[in-house]
Amino acid sequence: MDGNGRWAKKRLLPRLAGHKKGVDALRRCVHLCIERSIPVLTVFAFSSENWNRPQEEVSGLFELLALALSREVPEMARQGVRLHFVGERSSLSERVQTGFAQAEQNTAANQRLQLNICFNYGGRWDMAQAAAKVAASGQPLTEANISAALALAHVPDPDLLIRTGAELRLSNFLLWQAAYSELVFSPTLWPDFDAADLDSAITAFAQRERRFGQTSAQVCAQASASALPQVAQKR
Ligand code: FPP
Repeated sequence: MDGNGRWAKKRLLPRLAGHKKGVDALRRCVHLCIERSIPVLTVFAFSSENWNRPQEEVSGLFELLALALSREVPEMARQGVRLHFVGERSSLSERVQTGFAQAEQNTAANQRLQLNICFNYGGRWDMAQAAAKVAASGQPLTEANISAALALAHVPDPDLLIRTGAELRLSNFLLWQAAYSELVFSPTLWPDFDAADLDSAITAFAQRERRFGQTSAQVCAQASASALPQVAQKR
């Protein structure tokens, strides 16, 4: 969700005004995903590195988080959204930790959209904590064991990863899980990200050939085999 600061700067507003609009854009995006029957949305709200921002901006983001937990979560719960907060929690205040746990509990039965909010999250943090967990359990450090210990083990790897705000990098987001994600870099600043931007990213995704290490010919052969009627496949 990149571009809040630039959105505000263009309007001669404080950066926090951009983050506030960012919350509106997140609400809109959740609604758009529900409309399009997208089952999982994972967003990057606060990175392990965002602590290095000016103190005023960091505390503003935490105030926005508290506001979002009290105002947005009840409405998301009504819409059938299941919330997960993903990231390192022990260094967050008791109040924030309780807010995360309550939001997760109150939405645990919902099934329309799983919304993962990455907060105090970093892809490297996730890989390191997963490896430590596997090592402590005495299991071998295999890909399967690491995957199962990651903070996002409850959802499949993302098919599509969208970064807004015209920057062409991952910035420590989903480093493990994005191995085969299709990447879309949108020039739109996050507060302006709307239905047209989401649909344009989905259209770009639909035009990609996903090969997962195979050749194009293999992918085409598998696609035509799976398109055959069942009876023809059995012969
Ligand atoms: C990156 O834009 C955005 C963030 C670091 C914060 C994202 C937060 C929100 C969208 C608000 C919703 C989050 C909560 C608290 C639930 P940037 O500030 O780096 O923008 P810039 O690159 O234009 O400066």
